[in-house]
Amino acid sequence: MEERKPILDIQNLYIDYKVYGGYAKVINGLNLKVYPGEKISLVGESGCGKTTTVKSILRVLPSQARIPQGKIIFDGQDVLSLNVKELNKMRGQKLSMIFQDPTASLNPVFTIGKQIRDIIFYSGVVSQKDKKKIQERAIRALMDCSMPDPERILENYPFQLSGGMRQRVCIAMALATASKLMIADEPTTNLDVTIQDQVLHLIKDLAEQKAMSLILITHSMGVARMMADRICIMYAGNIVETAPTDVLLGQPLHPYTQALMDSIPKLTGDSPMKGIPGRLPSYVTPPSGCRFAGRCPYAEDRCYNESPGFYEMGEGHSVACYRYEKSASVKM
Ligand SMILES: Nc1ncnc2c1ncn2[C@@H]1O[C@H](COP(=O)(O)OP(=O)(O)O)[C@@H](O)[C@H]1O
Ligand SMILES: [Mg+2]
Repeated sequence: MEERKPILDIQNLYIDYKVYGGYAKVINGLNLKVYPGEKISLVGESGCGKTTTVKSILRVLPSQARIPQGKIIFDGQDVLSLNVKELNKMRGQKLSMIFQDPTASLNPVFTIGKQIRDIIFYSGVVSQKDKKKIQERAIRALMDCSMPDPERILENYPFQLSGGMRQRVCIAMALATASKLMIADEPTTNLDVTIQDQVLHLIKDLAEQKAMSLILITHSMGVARMMADRICIMYAGNIVETAPTDVLLGQPLHPYTQALMDSIPKLTGDSPMKGIPGRLPSYVTPPSGCRFAGRCPYAEDRCYNESPGFYEMGEGHSVACYRYEKSASVKM
């Protein structure tokens, strides 16, 4: 697997937000590779920077954000240096995003049909004049998402559909154009529990059918387990541990990952984590060493002063913690 070229390669990424009194230094030297067809899950508590990270890939960060350092390579292109035209092409044809709140990402004043047709039209995947082809593609997108009576749904306005149907429409829109990577940011948070499972299975099945890579953001280990080939645990602006799903769940190494797992009810594993004692550090005056040190039961002096690099603990399993310095096979 490591021999292949990643579809997404984020290298040493830093992202700050301008806030009252300075900058919040949120993303802190993050590295992430996603391979073609791979489904990864980004897991971490609220505020750790998951949304910020994926927004940077689409270049949709708000204006207060700046990227002082780092590189994002997507499908061989340097995302941070693309011009508007190249960016639109990338977003239209290769990258799709499903947001947390389906209602907010649909325009209330246009029919579903107009919105899907526009996306197909602007992506340039269908020749401009071919209205019939565009309509066919819109219908197929809805059918792919198991929507009954797609012709009728195309004529509906968003308010005429249930929350679950709206999220299906958003998934259909994300998939209406060709795509190599789908990013889903807590796509079921606002849905009924009974619908959540269906929507997650739909995303997973479609990613597999279309051989797309998937980045799924969640704060539930149960969801991550069901969806992902590999889990990346994020804490305060960085990935602190990554491993194939079974390995990570079977042998969590980072003290933060261990604390997360301990906070989940063992039997089902599908409820959101209860949280662990303490809080995320300040991003405006972040600690100079490991950002988890203040909450870590194993922290030693140097953890407060130096931040650990990654130690490789087996095939595809790496962890950013000094506890593994001696046992690691490779220091990355
Ligand atoms: N526009 C913004 N201005 C200032 N700070 C922001 C902005 N957006 C997000 N942040 C801060 O960045 C941190 C990470 O946020 P976010 O990426 O949304 O985390 P997550 O998705 O993991 O919950 C939080 O502390 C949040 O308050
Ligand atoms: Mg978020």
